[in-house]
Amino acid sequence: MKLDLSTLTIDEKIALLVGRDVWHTETASGKLPSLTLNDGPSGLRQVVDKNDPAAHPKSIKQDRGTASATAMPTLSALSCTWNPELAFLDGQVIADDCIERNADVLLAPGVNIKRTPVCGRNFEYLSEDPYLAGEMAKSFINGVQSSGVGTSLKHFCLNNIEVDRLFNSSEADERTVREIYLPAFEKALEAKPWTVMCAYNQINGIWASENRKYLKSILREELGFDGLIMSDWGATHDAPRALKATLDLTMPHSSRHLKELREAYNRGEITEGEIDERVEKLLELIEKCKNADKKVKRTKEERHAAAVKIAEEAIVLLKNDNNTLPIRDKRLMVIGEMARNPSLGGGGSSFVYTAHNFEPLENLIKQNLCEDTEFISATDAYSPEVSVSRYNGLSALCYRAMEAESVILCIGNNDLVEIEGVDRSTIKLSQNHEKLILTLAKANPKLIVILYTGSAIDMSVWKDSVAAIVQAGFGGEGISEALANVLTGKVSPSGKLTESYPMCLEDNPTVATRPSVICKALSKLQNSSADKYTEGVFVGYRYYDTTDTDVLFPFGHGLSYADFRYTGLTILQNGDTDFTVSLTVTNTSDIPAKETVQLYVSDIISTVERPDKELKGFAKIDLAPGESKQISMNLDYRSFAFYNVSLGDWHVENGDFDILVGASSRDIRLKGRIRIALPREKQYTVAK
Ligand code: BGC
Repeated sequence: MKLDLSTLTIDEKIALLVGRDVWHTETASGKLPSLTLNDGPSGLRQVVDKNDPAAHPKSIKQDRGTASATAMPTLSALSCTWNPELAFLDGQVIADDCIERNADVLLAPGVNIKRTPVCGRNFEYLSEDPYLAGEMAKSFINGVQSSGVGTSLKHFCLNNIEVDRLFNSSEADERTVREIYLPAFEKALEAKPWTVMCAYNQINGIWASENRKYLKSILREELGFDGLIMSDWGATHDAPRALKATLDLTMPHSSRHLKELREAYNRGEITEGEIDERVEKLLELIEKCKNADKKVKRTKEERHAAAVKIAEEAIVLLKNDNNTLPIRDKRLMVIGEMARNPSLGGGGSSFVYTAHNFEPLENLIKQNLCEDTEFISATDAYSPEVSVSRYNGLSALCYRAMEAESVILCIGNNDLVEIEGVDRSTIKLSQNHEKLILTLAKANPKLIVILYTGSAIDMSVWKDSVAAIVQAGFGGEGISEALANVLTGKVSPSGKLTESYPMCLEDNPTVATRPSVICKALSKLQNSSADKYTEGVFVGYRYYDTTDTDVLFPFGHGLSYADFRYTGLTILQNGDTDFTVSLTVTNTSDIPAKETVQLYVSDIISTVERPDKELKGFAKIDLAPGESKQISMNLDYRSFAFYNVSLGDWHVENGDFDILVGASSRDIRLKGRIRIALPREKQYTVAK
């Protein structure tokens, strides 16, 4: 039975508004169970006492004092599967680890939009596109919560850079917020996450933690969230003000905030009624956690197998000249430390320690290929960075590489380059890495580069010199097995990018318009903490496609070993603004493969400036050789609407819209046109 508020003293109630320590809620003098809140999006990260047997040994990475867990792909990799079923599976796997370690609420997922490629936390987020981010997050939440573990949808909202994240004010106009930064939250809220975490930054000049408009009017009243809102760790500035904005819980423990709350209550600035409303949310959460049907669904081996499965679909084949992949050669060489010790994720609160023992990639490749495959070895093959700094070393490596028919180079960013709290200053690989790629490519033109990164990379210097590029992403503990399966053709790659890869950083509108985004020093010089979202709704492909800016790889891009034919587009009108878009996809090759079909809508003429096209649907299908499948995707009012600031509502203007079906935002295969003719009372602007 739920604990009655009347059994708690006012002191106990105030104490419940602030965490007990870093990871737990208060107990009201032992009357309530304490909840455990743990990170995070790519696996359970539970900080434990060094003497706890679960604390991992100082083996693979340095000891970070966390219990070992299944390291799942980061959300940046998960989203590249474009497969909501895998997001659900991912959530369930992480929940299993939570149940075993008594974690009640998982501090994930993060649905902040990848506004700029330099954001240090892009690897923790799903996409530059709100529709895709929302759909994937919704499934992830459903997965976690179906196992009886709560989630925390974060960071609400407009938390899109790391530099100065504790001070920034994200300044965006209403339409931009509504069209780009809120929809992923809105969609994810359909899964009813048990909690939401507010962001560190200010939103248009008011801290997210104290922002009544955002927390109360938008999140609770408009979007209908009725769970607990917690602060990000240290995001509360003035606890009584935060309480007035309906923030329920300040994390972690802070005696300053407790004191502020007690004093504000004594002065009559906050009432017992207001405190009760907030405490009620914690009691409801405790109730949910207590009554949850927590059953571990998978063994540790099954969880690892799920990690491999998700990683397989997350791998994106970016380039594959002359069908270099899958591997057919017999004399191979594998180079790069990540072939043995892959980067699993970026740094910070989402870092997961896994006890998994990594088999070297070449051994895994060998298992999938015939016996007579030969691997060429070399000193420094697994620490090529060392070779770059020693000229002789590099030439020795190249000499060996020349003997191979093809060379697989595993390279990328580690958790110090992509890390919470710091934005990248460049989106290129390090100079050493670039030099290594270019030198090896000269020695062996059949160079296959495997990239372990959590966000966009500028490859312009070396892209044309290599034969194939595989984006492994931060694929979690299953990445090496997944790569071996993809490289050898056991599985055809089916991942697609969920963010655009620009030709260079300067092509990104956030950088073009505001250099301080990438440079803390500059922002200090300008004596401003305002981060102006002057690009408006033109984020990612919405900008590049509208301005016809060339990109290295477009949003939605990803190659397959198979070929697909898209035919027979039909658009059925079911209502004024409701349509069903159907088409047939045929696998014209002789291998089984999956394809992600993307549905974009383009408003031909509008009274406000709109992006060239916007993603409004997608479907991932599995096709046997030669098989055809018909797929259908629905469009509704929101698919055609922009946010009309004067109306304070979504608005569809009458007129023609292009319906674009493609394999990426720049590879539109089928095109149709529909006309919307709403009655006069639903139109407010001049008819087109
Ligand atoms: C991060 C959150 C995280 C929290 C707890 C904060 O610094 O922004 O995403 O959940 O720490 O580790």
